[in-house]
Amino acid sequence: MRSRNVVLIGFMGSGKTSVGLRLSYRLRLPVEDTDRLIERREGCSISELFAEKGEEYFRRQETELLRELAERNYAGIFSVGGGTPVRPENRALLRRLGKVVLLRIKPETVYDRLKGDTARPLLQCANPRERIRQLLESRQEAYEDGADVIVDVDGKEMEEILDEIVKEI
Ligand code: S3P
Repeated sequence: MRSRNVVLIGFMGSGKTSVGLRLSYRLRLPVEDTDRLIERREGCSISELFAEKGEEYFRRQETELLRELAERNYAGIFSVGGGTPVRPENRALLRRLGKVVLLRIKPETVYDRLKGDTARPLLQCANPRERIRQLLESRQEAYEDGADVIVDVDGKEMEEILDEIVKEI
């Protein structure tokens, strides 16, 4: 693991992608997003992948990609899908990639940020507010277990979040 590598984990809508981009400017390191890498590799969007091949197929691709990334000596920032840390083997792989930073978020904030979003297949249901609450609750332990650093993001400006991360790495 390279000392300044950062791996951003957290629920959908916690800001992993935007924090990853801003952090990459600040630290002058490249950034990779595992969902985008999977989309490029599969030639379709995450929503299409879920619809055509199912969640289990997506999860297998996710773990396979993490394994490949962990083999490489890549210096940079990674942001990963919200469900990635749920599998214990993924948590171990994430730690091999770098320092794991959890962007911890409350369910109400997720709902405010993502209501009306159509890009997250897991939230396309009759009651997304309840789905967010349940899914987040069921994942919280895995998130915290997989994290080296925890940053609470609710009500914070981007700069504040970046400052907290940079201080900890
Ligand atoms: C998922 C989160 C998504 C994407 C997929 C599944 C999840 O990524 O990987 O839709 O299980 O929480 P984001 O967290 O970037 O939205």
